[in-house]
Amino acid sequence: MNVVTCENDERLSAHAAALVIAEIERRRSLLLCAATGSSPTGLYSALAERAHQDPELFRDLRVIALDEWGGLRETDPGSTTGYLRERLLDPLAISADRFLGFDSSVEPALACQKMRAALDQSGPIDVCVLGLGANGHVGFNEPGLTLDPNCHVARLSVETRQHAMARSMDRPPEFGLTLGLQEILASKRIVLLVTGKGKQQTVARLLREEVSTTLPASLLWLHGNVDCLVDRAVL
Ligand code: GLP
Repeated sequence: MNVVTCENDERLSAHAAALVIAEIERRRSLLLCAATGSSPTGLYSALAERAHQDPELFRDLRVIALDEWGGLRETDPGSTTGYLRERLLDPLAISADRFLGFDSSVEPALACQKMRAALDQSGPIDVCVLGLGANGHVGFNEPGLTLDPNCHVARLSVETRQHAMARSMDRPPEFGLTLGLQEILASKRIVLLVTGKGKQQTVARLLREEVSTTLPASLLWLHGNVDCLVDRAVL
């Protein structure tokens, strides 16, 4: 893992944007896996700004959602798809045929099966943008004695149900749909964005370079091409 300390959240977003744009310039039809939450918002604004100047650059880009809150419709603004539509899909003019999201019209387990099948066909992910959960999760791969390696329905922890996106909902979901560590680790390149409040202890553990299912993000140490961009304020 290539750990880069950034002066602040703005520098972290600019650094991430430069990495992602360079990859898209190399391969315009790449498959970008997109996390939600507050960590990637600066990156997505930078990509939107670039799309404003150079819409052609994103003409073939494909996007896949990392996860989705359980029980929410794709049309719900609080859903992952709603978030991505507002910040990434619409500004970059990603057409419906270039976006892979979790299907909220079917049972969650079936939506995960469909996602696995779609990824088998369109994958692997070229660039996977991740945020770090305050409890060490990535996507909705929650800490535990064991991990479900593939795309699955996950019971959400108490901490995750307190995430700002969940708190803005009438009733925080009890489960989420998520790509598993297997699909994440099959990505050609991973960019982990570490920024936000209440993550100091988790980051300190992550940087110890020990792998444990009780800290799902630590499994990223097993991958050979990870940039971990850390906002100095989190150290
Ligand atoms: C949420 C999302 C993840 C996100 C993570 C960190 O639960 N499911 O996709 O990366 O938590 O969120 P934030 O960036 O807001 O700290």
